[in-house]
Amino acid sequence: MKMILHLEVQRKGQAEIDAVKGFGRLPSNSDKPNFPYVRAFIAESLRFMPPIPLCQLISQNFQGDPHALKGDDVYGNYFLPKGAWIITSDRDTLLGPDPMAFNPDRYKGNDEAMEQVLSLVFGFGRRQCPGRLFAKNSLFALLAAPLAICDISPGLDISGRVELPKRLCTSGSVITPGPVRISVKSRSVAAEALLAEIEEVIG
Ligand code: HEM
Repeated sequence: MKMILHLEVQRKGQAEIDAVKGFGRLPSNSDKPNFPYVRAFIAESLRFMPPIPLCQLISQNFQGDPHALKGDDVYGNYFLPKGAWIITSDRDTLLGPDPMAFNPDRYKGNDEAMEQVLSLVFGFGRRQCPGRLFAKNSLFALLAAPLAICDISPGLDISGRVELPKRLCTSGSVITPGPVRISVKSRSVAAEALLAEIEEVIG
């Protein structure tokens, strides 16, 4: 959804991939270190709309998953009774003066800033998401390959008018973007050849 609402972000991601790879082959996870903008795109997407609704953009707090204490505990001067809900909260993670804007440039290519966001998105400590590496690598592969070979733009409604997504996201304990109509076109003859190769592999 972010790709079609922010075509300029899509173009920047494509330019980064083109500069390193050309269209010789599809980018893979081994190319990750060369694509800071694509990595920032992923961090920003997860910051902006974490699949588990953690980010309270309006109150400018980024809250972790709630946990309950198994026994009494003490933190600094605070006594925390058994059963108390502990919700981590971080104001700094929203990075900059305009947290409501979708802007991969806010990380300035700095991986520490991206990791700060991702540590909240995937949780931390003993209950940290065990699927985080799988999720991060899958997201990179899912984003980088289409960026290299496709232009993705808003789809058309039945009267041929451009249709932008109406809803930002679904509600619930896991959130996803609402239905989105998109148009996908290959970027060049070379990109089409790569697409044909993929079709041959996956049948
Ligand atoms: C973008 C994708 C994902 C996000 C944002 C995400 C986020 C989270 C979060 C926030 C937690 C709770 C952490 C905490 O309690 O502090 C969690 C737990 C967990 N996640 Fe993920 N996750 C993702 C993908 C995955 C995948 C792909 C797998 C499995 C392959 C997975 C398996 C788990 C499991 C098993 C737990 C429970 C861990 C525990 O309670 O000890 N997650 N995840």
